[in-house]
Amino acid sequence: MDRLETPATIAMAQRARALKARGEQVLSLALGEPDFPTPAGVIEAAHRAALDGQTKYPPVEGTPALKAAIIRKFARENGLAYEPSEVMVSNGGKQVIFNAFMATVNPGDEVIVPRPYWVSYPLIISLFGGVPVFVDCPEESGFRLDAAVLEAAITPRTKWLVLNFPNNPTGATTTRADLEAIAEVLRRHPRVHVLSDEIYEHLVYDGQAHVSIAQVAPDLKSRVLTLNGVSKAYAMTGWRVGYVGGPAGLIRAMASIQSSSTSGICSISQAASVAALDGPSGVVEVMRETYDRRRRMVVGALRQIPQLTCAMPLGAFYVYPGIAACIGRTSAGGRLIGTDEDFAIALLEEQHVAVVHGSAFGKGPYLRLSYATSDEILVDACGRIAMFVAGLT
Ligand SMILES: Cc1ncc(COP(=O)(O)O)c(C=O)c1O
Repeated sequence: MDRLETPATIAMAQRARALKARGEQVLSLALGEPDFPTPAGVIEAAHRAALDGQTKYPPVEGTPALKAAIIRKFARENGLAYEPSEVMVSNGGKQVIFNAFMATVNPGDEVIVPRPYWVSYPLIISLFGGVPVFVDCPEESGFRLDAAVLEAAITPRTKWLVLNFPNNPTGATTTRADLEAIAEVLRRHPRVHVLSDEIYEHLVYDGQAHVSIAQVAPDLKSRVLTLNGVSKAYAMTGWRVGYVGGPAGLIRAMASIQSSSTSGICSISQAASVAALDGPSGVVEVMRETYDRRRRMVVGALRQIPQLTCAMPLGAFYVYPGIAACIGRTSAGGRLIGTDEDFAIALLEEQHVAVVHGSAFGKGPYLRLSYATSDEILVDACGRIAMFVAGLT
């Protein structure tokens, strides 16, 4: 239990909440959560399902209607054909990851996690005695995963590779060529499975198209879990629906674990998710365009601050500015900024802006800012960050 820390993202949100409880107005750029309401058509579908009596225990692996919608989604958007026995629904994408690693990770097994990473991967891997092995995705290469660096990290104990594009926390995306090179490495290591977390799939910018590894390398599909969910694309974080496509045997094992923990996912949420996946894509597009505009606005504002570096992210709703030039300085409030965590805490205490330090994602000194919040808050927050940095001596 000592290894199971609270994820830094949640810890920072808790700090911000404590400050708010003291009556302070806090601008939060710390949580990875869309600020949009769930689309009305989705809520209406949930209401209808409840009135229709869809209020009983649902099947553990997902309702037939949602599994069918997921199969249609994978075929339509990713060119992937899955059978009903090859998909399942969980309590958010997070439970998919939990089920997958609980089903497969034995003590000492290694899981390759590109760094920076979403905080939950190493926490869940360690919970089952697995060893996260980090491989660096440096800013200079757009935070992308280099196939040669990946191959150098593979050992006889490697069981999984985690891929997460578009990426949390950097917003990096991947290309078909990158995935082809990664697939070539995986062909030489037939024991390595891939967890491809594509939960930010719909949030890509500058005319890119999202690509899935199972689509790029169909010969590897039998060892790939393609993870997705409705949280980010449809502003449905609270409905708790994630899903996955993968080999039937592994899906069966994951469903078996889920049957002993949460059982099937809330039946109303599943009905809502059918409406989301089958619904008009225009709803997602409006949100994507809004994020895109905010992305350019925030990067533009951060690039005005000479002490920061800020790569233009190509996906998700995060920016990941570098703050190396601020380390070793002292804030206007007299706090020594020895690390990016010191920076994040001082920024929260002195300017009431909540962000998450990059070292929490395995790579400092950076900050992760979520721009899934209103333009007013973003403008105000960037102004306060500029003021905070200007006050460093
Ligand atoms: C990379 C990544 N994967 C998975 C998830 C899980 O999302 P959910 O459990 O809401 O489906 C998140 C949420 O922050 C995420 O950032």
